[in-house]
Amino acid sequence: MNSLQLSHHYWGLLLSPADIVIDATCGNGKDTLALARLVPQGLVFSMDIQHLAVEETCDYLKKNLDSERQERVVLLHQSHEMLPLIHPVKLIVYNLGYLPKGDKSITTMTATTLKSAAQALDLIEEGGAVSIVCYPGHAEGAREENALIAYASALPQEKFTVYFHQHINRKSSASFLWIVKKSTTR
Ligand SMILES: C[S@@+](CC[C@H](N)C(=O)[O-])C[C@H]1O[C@@H](n2cnc3c(N)ncnc32)[C@H](O)[C@@H]1O
Repeated sequence: MNSLQLSHHYWGLLLSPADIVIDATCGNGKDTLALARLVPQGLVFSMDIQHLAVEETCDYLKKNLDSERQERVVLLHQSHEMLPLIHPVKLIVYNLGYLPKGDKSITTMTATTLKSAAQALDLIEEGGAVSIVCYPGHAEGAREENALIAYASALPQEKFTVYFHQHINRKSSASFLWIVKKSTTR
């Protein structure tokens, strides 16, 4: 199982049908579709900084999702520097980097990803999670992964549980960071 597949597996373990989730990098829409299928009575807010990606996601959902579920997906053409202020949010997902067949110069950037991840950790409800797939095979992706590992490693253990998954016998493969906000009412 690769890091992307693993992230989807964790989403399935966490989510209930009526949950509200955010896809912070919708790209071609594959992650958004997977989320929409996991929360058939919930809501998916899905965004990308590229208009093309939002259009691709819209087309992909039209082809693969019934109209009732399409209505539960809100597509936003915006940067994840400003996450939608909705509540409660169970899961916020990032699939970092650039569109595989798109303009490689339009990639997620360390500073804005860190800013957004901090907001995401504030926004999620207790018991909720932030899912991040990193691609260290390109220079900005490697910087981003290092910065996220440093940031997540320093999160207080009484508030967050953090897992990091990576191949250790393959260079520059994608990695998966999973951060769960602990419940304070136990
Ligand atoms: C690897 S792709 C995402 C793949 C997508 N989740 C899918 O399932 O097809 C990364 C995406 O992040 C987007 N992106 C880059 N910077 C962003 C930002 N600041 N806010 C939102 N999206 C951003 C890119 O435009 C690109 O579409």
